[in-house]
Amino acid sequence: MKNLKDFQVKDKRVLVRCDFNVPLKEGVIEDDFRIKKALPTIEYLVKNGAKVILMTHLGKPEGKVVNSLKVKPIFDYLSKIFSIQESSYDKKLIEKTKSLKPGTCLLLENLRFDEREEKNDREFSQELARLGDIYINEAFGCSHRLHSSVVGITEFLPSGAGFLLEKEIESLEKIMKEPLRPLVSVIGGVKINTKIKLIKNLSKKSDELILGGELANTILRVNGLCIGPWPEEKIVKQIKEIDFTSNRVHLPVDVIASADKEGKTYVRESPLAKVRNDEWLLDIGPESIELFSQVIKKAKTIILAGPLGYFENPLFEKGTERIIEIITKNHSAYKLVGGGDTLFAISKFGAEKGFDHISTGGGAMLNFLSGEELPGIVALNEKSKKSS
Ligand code: 3PG
Repeated sequence: MKNLKDFQVKDKRVLVRCDFNVPLKEGVIEDDFRIKKALPTIEYLVKNGAKVILMTHLGKPEGKVVNSLKVKPIFDYLSKIFSIQESSYDKKLIEKTKSLKPGTCLLLENLRFDEREEKNDREFSQELARLGDIYINEAFGCSHRLHSSVVGITEFLPSGAGFLLEKEIESLEKIMKEPLRPLVSVIGGVKINTKIKLIKNLSKKSDELILGGELANTILRVNGLCIGPWPEEKIVKQIKEIDFTSNRVHLPVDVIASADKEGKTYVRESPLAKVRNDEWLLDIGPESIELFSQVIKKAKTIILAGPLGYFENPLFEKGTERIIEIITKNHSAYKLVGGGDTLFAISKFGAEKGFDHISTGGGAMLNFLSGEELPGIVALNEKSKKSS
Protein backbone atom coordinates (compact mmCIF):
# COMPACT_ATOMS: atom_id res chain seq x y z
CA MET A 1 0.00 0.00 0.00
CA LYS A 2 1.31 3.46 -0.88
CA ASN A 3 1.48 6.13 1.76
CA LEU A 4 1.57 9.89 1.86
CA LYS A 5 5.32 10.11 1.51
CA ASP A 6 5.29 8.14 -1.75
CA PHE A 7 3.74 11.13 -3.52
CA GLN A 8 5.11 14.46 -4.70
CA VAL A 9 2.41 16.69 -3.31
CA LYS A 10 3.74 20.18 -4.02
CA ASP A 11 1.18 22.20 -6.01
CA LYS A 12 -0.95 19.05 -6.38
CA ARG A 13 -4.60 18.82 -5.39
CA VAL A 14 -4.65 16.17 -2.68
CA LEU A 15 -8.10 14.83 -1.92
CA VAL A 16 -8.18 13.50 1.64
CA ARG A 17 -11.07 11.32 2.89
CA CYS A 18 -11.26 11.96 6.62
CA ASP A 19 -13.55 10.52 9.26
CA PHE A 20 -14.77 13.72 10.88
CA ASN A 21 -17.93 11.94 11.98
CA VAL A 22 -17.76 13.48 15.46
CA PRO A 23 -20.51 13.69 18.09
CA LEU A 24 -22.34 17.03 17.96
CA LYS A 25 -24.66 18.58 20.52
CA GLU A 26 -26.64 21.59 19.30
CA GLY A 27 -24.01 22.24 16.66
CA VAL A 28 -21.08 22.01 19.08
CA ILE A 29 -18.42 19.32 18.72
CA GLU A 30 -18.55 17.17 21.87
CA ASP A 31 -15.41 15.16 21.20
CA ASP A 32 -12.69 16.22 18.74
CA PHE A 33 -10.58 13.04 19.08
CA ARG A 34 -11.03 11.96 15.45
CA ILE A 35 -10.27 15.42 14.06
CA LYS A 36 -7.13 15.74 16.17
CA LYS A 37 -5.88 12.37 14.96
CA ALA A 38 -6.10 13.46 11.31
CA LEU A 39 -4.25 16.75 11.85
CA PRO A 40 -0.68 15.45 11.24
CA THR A 41 -1.61 14.42 7.69
CA ILE A 42 -3.23 17.77 6.93
CA GLU A 43 -0.31 19.64 8.50
CA TYR A 44 2.16 17.63 6.41
CA LEU A 45 0.28 18.42 3.21
CA VAL A 46 -0.03 22.11 4.06
CA LYS A 47 3.68 22.36 4.94
CA ASN A 48 4.62 20.65 1.70
CA GLY A 49 2.64 23.03 -0.48
CA ALA A 50 -0.29 20.81 -1.48
CA LYS A 51 -3.76 22.08 -2.28
CA VAL A 52 -5.67 20.13 0.34
CA ILE A 53 -9.26 19.11 -0.31
CA LEU A 54 -10.86 17.49 2.73
CA MET A 55 -13.98 15.36 2.58
CA THR A 56 -15.98 13.59 5.25
CA HIS A 57 -19.42 12.32 6.10
CA LEU A 58 -21.26 13.36 9.24
CA GLY A 59 -24.06 11.28 10.73
CA LYS A 60 -26.62 9.45 8.64
CA PRO A 61 -28.48 11.97 6.44
CA GLU A 62 -29.50 9.18 4.03
CA GLY A 63 -28.90 11.06 0.79
CA LYS A 64 -30.71 14.26 1.79
CA VAL A 65 -29.48 17.65 2.92
CA VAL A 66 -29.97 17.81 6.70
CA ASN A 67 -29.11 21.21 8.14
CA SER A 68 -27.98 19.87 11.50
CA LEU A 69 -25.49 17.58 9.71
CA LYS A 70 -23.73 20.25 7.66
CA VAL A 71 -19.98 20.30 8.16
CA LYS A 72 -19.97 23.91 9.46
CA PRO A 73 -18.85 23.00 13.04
CA ILE A 74 -15.91 21.06 11.58
CA PHE A 75 -15.10 23.96 9.28
CA ASP A 76 -15.11 26.36 12.26
CA TYR A 77 -12.80 23.99 14.14
CA LEU A 78 -10.33 23.63 11.25
CA SER A 79 -10.37 27.32 10.38
CA LYS A 80 -8.70 28.01 13.73
CA ILE A 81 -5.72 25.95 12.53
CA PHE A 82 -5.58 26.20 8.73
CA SER A 83 -6.33 28.66 5.97
CA ILE A 84 -9.47 26.96 4.72
CA GLN A 85 -12.57 27.48 2.57
CA GLU A 86 -15.83 25.58 2.71
CA SER A 87 -17.67 24.42 -0.37
CA SER A 88 -20.66 22.41 -1.44
CA TYR A 89 -20.80 20.53 -4.72
CA ASP A 90 -21.51 22.99 -7.51
CA LYS A 91 -20.37 23.38 -11.08
CA LYS A 92 -17.55 25.72 -10.16
CA LEU A 93 -16.03 23.29 -7.66
CA ILE A 94 -13.41 21.82 -10.00
CA GLU A 95 -12.19 25.33 -10.85
CA LYS A 96 -12.18 26.23 -7.15
CA THR A 97 -9.94 23.28 -6.30
CA LYS A 98 -7.55 24.21 -9.11
CA SER A 99 -7.30 27.81 -8.01
CA LEU A 100 -6.60 26.95 -4.37
CA LYS A 101 -3.37 28.47 -3.11
CA PRO A 102 -0.77 25.77 -2.27
CA GLY A 103 -0.66 25.19 1.48
CA THR A 104 -4.36 26.00 1.94
CA CYS A 105 -7.40 23.76 2.37
CA LEU A 106 -10.96 23.35 1.21
CA LEU A 107 -13.58 21.36 3.13
CA LEU A 108 -16.36 19.75 1.12
CA GLU A 109 -19.93 19.52 2.39
CA ASN A 110 -21.16 16.24 3.95
CA LEU A 111 -20.58 13.46 1.41
CA ARG A 112 -23.71 11.59 2.46
CA PHE A 113 -25.99 14.43 1.37
CA ASP A 114 -25.63 12.71 -2.02
CA GLU A 115 -27.31 9.30 -2.01
CA ARG A 116 -24.76 7.98 -4.51
CA GLU A 117 -21.96 8.06 -1.90
CA GLU A 118 -23.21 5.06 0.09
CA LYS A 119 -23.94 3.11 -3.11
CA ASN A 120 -20.29 3.33 -4.18
CA ASP A 121 -21.74 4.83 -7.37
CA ARG A 122 -19.14 4.88 -10.13
CA GLU A 123 -20.21 8.23 -11.54
CA PHE A 124 -20.09 9.86 -8.12
CA SER A 125 -16.64 8.36 -7.49
CA GLN A 126 -15.52 9.87 -10.78
CA GLU A 127 -17.03 13.26 -9.93
CA LEU A 128 -15.13 13.26 -6.64
CA ALA A 129 -11.94 12.17 -8.37
CA ARG A 130 -12.10 15.21 -10.66
CA LEU A 131 -11.53 17.36 -7.58
CA GLY A 132 -8.03 16.03 -6.98
CA ASP A 133 -4.79 14.73 -8.49
CA ILE A 134 -4.00 12.33 -5.64
CA TYR A 135 -6.34 10.50 -3.25
CA ILE A 136 -5.45 9.84 0.38
CA ASN A 137 -7.57 7.68 2.67
CA GLU A 138 -7.23 9.02 6.20
CA ALA A 139 -10.56 7.60 7.36
CA PHE A 140 -9.84 4.32 9.10
CA GLY A 141 -13.21 4.61 10.85
CA CYS A 142 -14.97 4.42 7.45
CA SER A 143 -12.74 1.88 5.76
CA HIS A 144 -15.27 -0.91 6.41
CA ARG A 145 -17.73 0.96 4.17
CA LEU A 146 -18.00 0.18 0.47
CA HIS A 147 -18.63 3.82 -0.43
CA SER A 148 -17.56 6.08 -3.31
CA SER A 149 -15.20 8.26 -1.27
CA VAL A 150 -13.57 5.19 0.32
CA VAL A 151 -13.46 2.57 -2.43
CA GLY A 152 -14.79 3.71 -5.84
CA ILE A 153 -12.58 6.76 -6.05
CA THR A 154 -9.36 4.71 -5.96
CA GLU A 155 -10.12 3.54 -9.51
CA PHE A 156 -9.60 7.05 -10.83
CA LEU A 157 -6.67 8.53 -8.88
CA PRO A 158 -3.21 7.57 -7.63
CA SER A 159 -4.13 6.50 -4.09
CA GLY A 160 -2.51 5.94 -0.73
CA ALA A 161 -2.92 5.93 3.04
CA GLY A 162 -2.60 8.88 5.40
CA PHE A 163 -0.46 8.72 8.54
CA LEU A 164 -3.39 7.77 10.77
CA LEU A 165 -4.67 5.00 8.53
CA GLU A 166 -1.16 3.56 8.36
CA LYS A 167 -0.78 3.65 12.14
CA GLU A 168 -4.18 2.03 12.68
CA ILE A 169 -3.36 -0.83 10.30
CA GLU A 170 0.08 -1.32 11.80
CA SER A 171 -1.21 -1.41 15.41
CA LEU A 172 -4.12 -3.72 14.68
CA GLU A 173 -2.06 -6.05 12.50
CA LYS A 174 0.60 -6.29 15.17
CA ILE A 175 -2.03 -7.52 17.60
CA MET A 176 -3.66 -9.95 15.20
CA LYS A 177 -0.51 -11.41 13.68
CA GLU A 178 2.20 -11.46 16.33
CA PRO A 179 0.91 -10.40 19.73
CA LEU A 180 3.09 -10.77 22.78
CA ARG A 181 1.41 -13.48 24.80
CA PRO A 182 -0.66 -13.96 26.81
CA LEU A 183 -3.14 -11.95 24.73
CA VAL A 184 -6.16 -11.03 26.84
CA SER A 185 -9.27 -9.66 25.13
CA VAL A 186 -11.87 -7.83 27.16
CA ILE A 187 -15.16 -7.46 25.32
CA GLY A 188 -18.14 -5.63 26.72
CA GLY A 189 -21.06 -3.55 25.51
CA VAL A 190 -24.79 -3.97 25.14
CA LYS A 191 -25.67 -5.54 21.81
CA ILE A 192 -24.28 -8.98 21.26
CA ASN A 193 -25.32 -9.03 17.58
CA THR A 194 -22.74 -6.32 16.77
CA LYS A 195 -19.96 -8.25 18.51
CA ILE A 196 -20.67 -11.93 17.95
CA LYS A 197 -18.12 -12.23 15.12
CA LEU A 198 -15.57 -10.40 17.23
CA ILE A 199 -16.16 -12.76 20.15
CA LYS A 200 -15.81 -15.75 17.83
CA ASN A 201 -12.55 -14.55 16.30
CA LEU A 202 -10.99 -13.32 19.52
CA SER A 203 -11.96 -16.51 21.34
CA LYS A 204 -9.67 -18.28 18.86
CA LYS A 205 -6.85 -15.72 18.78
CA SER A 206 -6.70 -14.81 22.48
CA ASP A 207 -5.17 -16.77 25.31
CA GLU A 208 -7.85 -15.46 27.66
CA LEU A 209 -11.21 -13.91 26.85
CA ILE A 210 -13.07 -11.74 29.36
CA LEU A 211 -16.71 -10.86 28.71
CA GLY A 212 -18.78 -8.25 30.50
CA GLY A 213 -21.67 -5.86 29.96
CA GLU A 214 -25.15 -6.80 28.76
CA LEU A 215 -23.69 -8.99 26.04
CA ALA A 216 -22.16 -11.23 28.72
CA ASN A 217 -25.53 -11.39 30.48
CA THR A 218 -27.08 -12.63 27.23
CA ILE A 219 -24.42 -15.36 26.97
CA LEU A 220 -24.99 -16.35 30.59
CA ARG A 221 -28.73 -16.65 29.97
CA VAL A 222 -28.35 -18.76 26.84
CA ASN A 223 -25.99 -21.06 28.72
CA GLY A 224 -28.49 -21.45 31.55
CA LEU A 225 -26.32 -19.65 34.09
CA CYS A 226 -28.65 -16.77 34.75
CA ILE A 227 -32.31 -15.89 34.19
CA GLY A 228 -33.61 -12.87 32.28
CA PRO A 229 -34.70 -11.79 28.78
CA TRP A 230 -34.06 -14.35 26.02
CA PRO A 231 -32.43 -13.15 22.78
CA GLU A 232 -33.72 -13.87 19.27
CA GLU A 233 -33.13 -17.40 17.95
CA LYS A 234 -30.42 -16.35 15.47
CA ILE A 235 -28.34 -15.00 18.35
CA VAL A 236 -29.00 -18.09 20.47
CA LYS A 237 -27.69 -20.24 17.63
CA GLN A 238 -24.56 -18.12 17.23
CA ILE A 239 -23.86 -18.13 20.96
CA LYS A 240 -24.21 -21.91 21.07
CA GLU A 241 -21.53 -22.23 18.37
CA ILE A 242 -18.91 -20.80 20.75
CA ASP A 243 -17.41 -22.86 23.56
CA PHE A 244 -17.93 -20.75 26.66
CA THR A 245 -17.07 -23.64 28.97
CA SER A 246 -13.36 -23.32 28.17
CA ASN A 247 -11.28 -22.23 31.15
CA ARG A 248 -9.85 -19.49 28.95
CA VAL A 249 -13.22 -17.74 28.86
CA HIS A 250 -14.16 -15.59 31.83
CA LEU A 251 -17.74 -14.49 32.38
CA PRO A 252 -19.10 -12.48 35.32
CA VAL A 253 -19.87 -14.46 38.48
CA ASP A 254 -21.76 -11.66 40.18
CA VAL A 255 -23.54 -8.49 39.10
CA ILE A 256 -24.96 -5.18 40.25
CA ALA A 257 -28.71 -5.47 39.80
CA SER A 258 -31.64 -3.09 39.97
CA ALA A 259 -35.39 -3.31 39.46
CA ASP A 260 -35.24 -0.43 36.99
CA LYS A 261 -32.79 0.84 34.42
CA GLU A 262 -31.76 3.92 36.40
CA GLY A 263 -31.18 2.29 39.78
CA LYS A 264 -34.04 4.34 41.29
CA THR A 265 -35.78 1.45 43.09
CA TYR A 266 -32.69 -0.16 44.59
CA VAL A 267 -29.15 -1.18 43.67
CA ARG A 268 -27.78 -4.44 44.98
CA GLU A 269 -24.88 -6.82 44.50
CA SER A 270 -25.98 -10.32 43.62
CA PRO A 271 -24.41 -13.63 42.71
CA LEU A 272 -25.73 -14.82 39.34
CA ALA A 273 -27.83 -17.58 40.91
CA LYS A 274 -29.80 -15.06 42.96
CA VAL A 275 -30.68 -12.66 40.18
CA ARG A 276 -34.45 -12.24 39.67
CA ASN A 277 -36.16 -12.53 36.33
CA ASP A 278 -37.35 -8.91 36.30
CA GLU A 279 -34.04 -7.34 37.32
CA TRP A 280 -31.71 -5.24 35.18
CA LEU A 281 -28.07 -6.35 35.43
CA LEU A 282 -26.19 -3.12 34.97
CA ASP A 283 -22.64 -3.81 36.07
CA ILE A 284 -20.29 -6.61 36.99
CA GLY A 285 -19.90 -7.26 40.72
CA PRO A 286 -16.79 -7.16 42.99
CA GLU A 287 -16.00 -10.88 42.67
CA SER A 288 -16.00 -10.61 38.88
CA ILE A 289 -13.71 -7.59 39.06
CA GLU A 290 -11.30 -9.59 41.21
CA LEU A 291 -11.45 -12.61 38.92
CA PHE A 292 -10.90 -10.52 35.78
CA SER A 293 -8.10 -8.54 37.37
CA GLN A 294 -6.08 -11.73 38.05
CA VAL A 295 -6.21 -12.53 34.33
CA ILE A 296 -5.47 -8.98 33.14
CA LYS A 297 -2.44 -8.62 35.42
CA LYS A 298 -0.67 -11.50 33.64
CA ALA A 299 -1.33 -10.20 30.10
CA LYS A 300 1.37 -9.05 27.71
CA THR A 301 -1.17 -7.75 25.17
CA ILE A 302 -4.64 -6.43 26.01
CA ILE A 303 -7.54 -5.51 23.74
CA LEU A 304 -10.41 -3.58 25.29
CA ALA A 305 -13.59 -3.35 23.19
CA GLY A 306 -16.65 -2.30 25.11
CA PRO A 307 -17.59 -1.17 28.61
CA LEU A 308 -18.35 -3.73 31.33
CA GLY A 309 -21.54 -2.06 32.51
CA TYR A 310 -23.78 0.98 32.29
CA PHE A 311 -20.87 3.28 33.21
CA GLU A 312 -22.68 6.45 32.13
CA ASN A 313 -24.62 6.15 35.41
CA PRO A 314 -22.32 6.58 38.46
CA LEU A 315 -24.27 3.83 40.26
CA PHE A 316 -23.04 1.29 37.69
CA GLU A 317 -19.64 2.64 36.68
CA LYS A 318 -17.40 0.74 39.07
CA GLY A 319 -16.85 -2.39 36.94
CA THR A 320 -15.77 -0.43 33.88
CA GLU A 321 -13.70 2.04 35.90
CA ARG A 322 -11.81 -0.64 37.85
CA ILE A 323 -11.14 -2.84 34.83
CA ILE A 324 -9.79 0.16 32.88
CA GLU A 325 -7.59 1.03 35.87
CA ILE A 326 -6.27 -2.53 36.17
CA ILE A 327 -5.54 -2.64 32.43
CA THR A 328 -3.66 0.67 32.42
CA LYS A 329 -1.66 -0.38 35.48
CA ASN A 330 -0.27 -3.37 33.63
CA HIS A 331 2.79 -1.53 32.39
CA SER A 332 4.38 -4.53 30.72
CA ALA A 333 1.47 -5.10 28.31
CA TYR A 334 0.77 -3.53 24.90
CA LYS A 335 -2.73 -2.07 25.27
CA LEU A 336 -5.22 -1.31 22.53
CA VAL A 337 -8.70 0.17 22.90
CA GLY A 338 -11.42 1.34 20.52
CA GLY A 339 -15.11 1.84 19.89
CA GLY A 340 -17.35 4.83 20.55
CA ASP A 341 -18.67 3.92 24.02
CA THR A 342 -15.34 2.58 25.17
CA LEU A 343 -13.56 5.77 24.19
CA PHE A 344 -16.17 7.74 26.10
CA ALA A 345 -15.45 5.57 29.16
CA ILE A 346 -11.69 6.01 28.73
CA SER A 347 -12.16 9.75 28.59
CA LYS A 348 -14.61 9.79 31.55
CA PHE A 349 -12.05 7.98 33.73
CA GLY A 350 -9.09 10.00 32.39
CA ALA A 351 -7.30 6.88 31.15
CA GLU A 352 -6.29 7.96 27.62
CA LYS A 353 -2.59 8.00 28.41
CA GLY A 354 -2.68 4.44 29.73
CA PHE A 355 -3.15 2.89 26.27
CA ASP A 356 -0.57 2.31 23.53
CA HIS A 357 -3.09 2.68 20.73
CA ILE A 358 -6.54 4.22 20.81
CA SER A 359 -8.30 3.32 17.60
CA THR A 360 -10.44 5.93 15.87
CA GLY A 361 -12.56 3.13 14.42
CA GLY A 362 -15.79 1.86 15.89
CA GLY A 363 -17.31 -0.63 13.43
CA ALA A 364 -14.09 -0.60 11.38
CA MET A 365 -12.00 -1.71 14.34
CA LEU A 366 -14.51 -4.41 15.31
CA ASN A 367 -14.55 -5.74 11.74
CA PHE A 368 -10.77 -5.75 11.56
CA LEU A 369 -10.45 -7.63 14.86
CA SER A 370 -13.20 -9.99 13.72
CA GLY A 371 -10.86 -11.07 10.95
CA GLU A 372 -12.74 -9.33 8.14
CA GLU A 373 -11.13 -7.45 5.27
CA LEU A 374 -11.96 -3.76 5.14
CA PRO A 375 -12.96 -2.66 1.60
CA GLY A 376 -11.14 0.69 1.92
CA ILE A 377 -7.86 -1.05 2.77
CA VAL A 378 -8.34 -3.74 0.12
CA ALA A 379 -8.90 -0.98 -2.49
CA LEU A 380 -5.62 0.74 -1.57
CA ASN A 381 -3.69 -2.53 -1.66
CA GLU A 382 -5.11 -3.47 -5.05
CA LYS A 383 -4.39 -0.03 -6.42
CA SER A 384 -0.76 -0.18 -5.37
CA LYS A 385 -0.40 -3.70 -6.89
CA LYS A 386 -1.78 -2.41 -10.20
CA SER A 387 0.47 0.65 -10.26
CA SER A 388 3.70 -1.19 -9.40
C1 3PG B 1 -18.10 5.62 12.68
O1 3PG B 1 -18.60 6.52 13.37
O2 3PG B 1 -17.91 4.47 13.10
C2 3PG B 1 -17.65 5.96 11.28
O3 3PG B 1 -17.63 7.33 11.07
C3 3PG B 1 -18.53 5.27 10.27
O4 3PG B 1 -19.82 5.78 10.37
P1 3PG B 1 -21.07 4.93 9.84
O5 3PG B 1 -21.28 3.81 10.81
O6 3PG B 1 -22.22 5.90 9.81
O7 3PG B 1 -20.71 4.42 8.46
